[in-house]
Amino acid sequence: MLRVSILGAGSIARTMAKTLRGMEEQDGSACLWGIASRDGDKARAFAEAEGAKKHFAGYDALLQDPDTDLIYIATPHAFHGAQIEMCVQAGKAVLCEKAFTGNAKQAEAALAASEAAGVLVTEAIWTRYQPARAMIRELIDTGEIGEVRHLSCNLGYPIMFKQRIVKPELAGGALLDLGVYCLNFAAMVLGTDVARTESSCKRLPGGGVDISDHITLYYQNGCEAELFATAMCRTNRRGLIYGTDGWIQVDNINNPQRITVFDTDGGKRRKLNVPEQITGYEYEVEACARALESHACECPEMPHAETLRVMRQMDELRAQWGVVYPFD
Ligand SMILES: NC(=O)c1ccc[n+]([C@@H]2O[C@H](COP(=O)([O-])OP(=O)(O)OC[C@H]3O[C@@H](n4cnc5c(N)ncnc54)[C@H](OP(=O)(O)O)[C@@H]3O)[C@@H](O)[C@H]2O)c1
Repeated sequence: MLRVSILGAGSIARTMAKTLRGMEEQDGSACLWGIASRDGDKARAFAEAEGAKKHFAGYDALLQDPDTDLIYIATPHAFHGAQIEMCVQAGKAVLCEKAFTGNAKQAEAALAASEAAGVLVTEAIWTRYQPARAMIRELIDTGEIGEVRHLSCNLGYPIMFKQRIVKPELAGGALLDLGVYCLNFAAMVLGTDVARTESSCKRLPGGGVDISDHITLYYQNGCEAELFATAMCRTNRRGLIYGTDGWIQVDNINNPQRITVFDTDGGKRRKLNVPEQITGYEYEVEACARALESHACECPEMPHAETLRVMRQMDELRAQWGVVYPFD
């Protein structure tokens, strides 16, 4: 059984706790082992509420735990880089929430540390690990919609009230929180051979972070992708992949549940549902278990090079918009 401990007792930590409880009940493949918070009382309360076996006052205490197999980092993006390095130095494997780090420089350092030490580090960009990815790939590869020409997708939630979304020192902005899913969706469908990028964003007043992003990617092979991410409102979170013989609709790109294929007249050709899931996070945990078994320092579902490429792509977009973090 993979013993997973969580670093940071916040919002997404609760979803991971539920996932791990589900995995323990389902087949005993993983469990929620420990929870670490900067505040010992908060860690204890979390452990009691979520059923963690151990709780740690401070992140350093977790690093000393001999029984933790994998640390799931669930703090704001700006802290990820240093926390990954801290875990790797203690010999602990890491599954780190997206965005992987605050910028590419931090990602380079974190990944170099992982590779030098031979310790597993992987990005918790859950859509890369989910079954929907292979289902969409198969539809495209078998020519279900002919030759793919264009993609559009959007992701939006009204989350401007969150400090980690609006504060530059926490690596805020729509891009690193939401746009990252759009960029990953485009990469999974159309690949990485981007010839040109055009983009614009709406920023918070006073030169603040990006809050709505519009990104168009033009690929070497003639395909295009149109991406929209916003922290201002909820959107339909839909992905549309257009081909010469129909299109594929993905609902939703943040956790695909339904994939519908249409013919060129808009008639439904077929509808696919993804397998029943606990929360959808179990797939990234399973990938970590496989990587640990084979003593790999990365997961094939999201190799280090791809994590780094996406971080560089987001640095480039922020540079186009003039969105700068204090640690850049
Ligand atoms: N995969 C997904 O679908 C998904 C969804 C939501 C979020 N996320 C990612 O998960 C990460 C955490 O998001 P969240 O919404 O859970 O964040 P959150 O609740 O705001 O914060 C998580 C934890 O980080 C620590 N923290 C928060 N603010 C801090 C600060 N200013 N200084 C130092 N530590 C701080 C706290 O840990 P302690 O006080 O316990 O030490 C807090 O409980 C982000 O990278 C986000 O992108 C992923």
